[in-house]
Amino acid sequence: MSDDADFEELAPTLELPSRPRRNRRTPALRNMVRETRLDPAQLVYPLFVHSDAEDTPISSMPGQTRWSLKGLVKEVKRAAKLGIDKVVVFPKIDDKLKNETGTEAANGKGLIPEVIRRIKAACPDTCVITDIALDPYNIDGHDGIVSDEGVILNDETIAMLCEQAITHAQAGADIVAPSDMMDGRVGAIRQVLDDVGFTDVSIMSYTAKYASAFYGPFRGALDSAPKASGSKPIPKDKQTYQMDPANVREALRELELDESEGADIVLVKPAGPYLDIIRTLRDATHLPVAAYQVSGEYLMIKSAAKAGWLEERAAVMETLIGIRRAGADIILTYFAPQVAEWLE
Ligand code: PBG
Repeated sequence: MSDDADFEELAPTLELPSRPRRNRRTPALRNMVRETRLDPAQLVYPLFVHSDAEDTPISSMPGQTRWSLKGLVKEVKRAAKLGIDKVVVFPKIDDKLKNETGTEAANGKGLIPEVIRRIKAACPDTCVITDIALDPYNIDGHDGIVSDEGVILNDETIAMLCEQAITHAQAGADIVAPSDMMDGRVGAIRQVLDDVGFTDVSIMSYTAKYASAFYGPFRGALDSAPKASGSKPIPKDKQTYQMDPANVREALRELELDESEGADIVLVKPAGPYLDIIRTLRDATHLPVAAYQVSGEYLMIKSAAKAGWLEERAAVMETLIGIRRAGADIILTYFAPQVAEWLE
């Protein structure tokens, strides 16, 4: 007699009042008891655009493209057909348009206003979200204006961000999303939007944006990493305005401020390494909570899958359901159209 048969004979029928595995037995049962779901309506697709006529693959983000205006509109249409009707657009600005105060950010004839108008003309039902920050326009690569002493100036920056927000609203943006982390910018932007008559333009605030290593591929995509341009001392990182990855209470402090200043949606960024922050904000506010699965999180999955070390689809779905389970109502992810295809 083999050892196996011995084992079977010995196996007692346990008198278990509860067997959780019963609910996991078939796909139908698992689907019925599933606690968290993912819907394309909850996804926002971040897109990169430049003024060139060519669509250029982004080497630091395989599968992502720096779109031409034409290519971008086509991609937005493709996404809309898949049920992805919310996009956030990031510009790669020509070097010759960059200066120390990022004035191109408020040019009504600039790249982003043109992008907004073209998307709205082609896909009027697509919700257009724009990034409010100076880093693509600022010669120093910082989200704010840098003083001669190398200090990122808060209030001076906010004046420029307000102009940028108005410019985007005038072009037809549905939501402006300040990602700069200056103090008081949500209230200031709300006030100028209202003053000019844009009471219906929403603010999605990057409430808890951490000084993260996971933005690296994005800065490569936009060529927007902090760098010295002249004789000024330029801080190499963004730690004087983006948050310390070690902090939770500080996220609640930022939340209180953003709520009182009139934010419509509060955002946590990055997403994966900050699931506890997403949960903390979800439990502390009645506002919708968004989470941004950033370029580095995207690249980690893409690279591992390319090497054959991870199954891409399963890994992507697991990260997104994890972000939803942590409490995110909305997810910004470069995988958005791909996920919509998988969910079809
Ligand atoms: C800057 C901005 C960044 C991202 C979105 N807006 C980078 C940064 O703060 O340096 C990162 C997005 C990503 O990594 O996917 N305003």
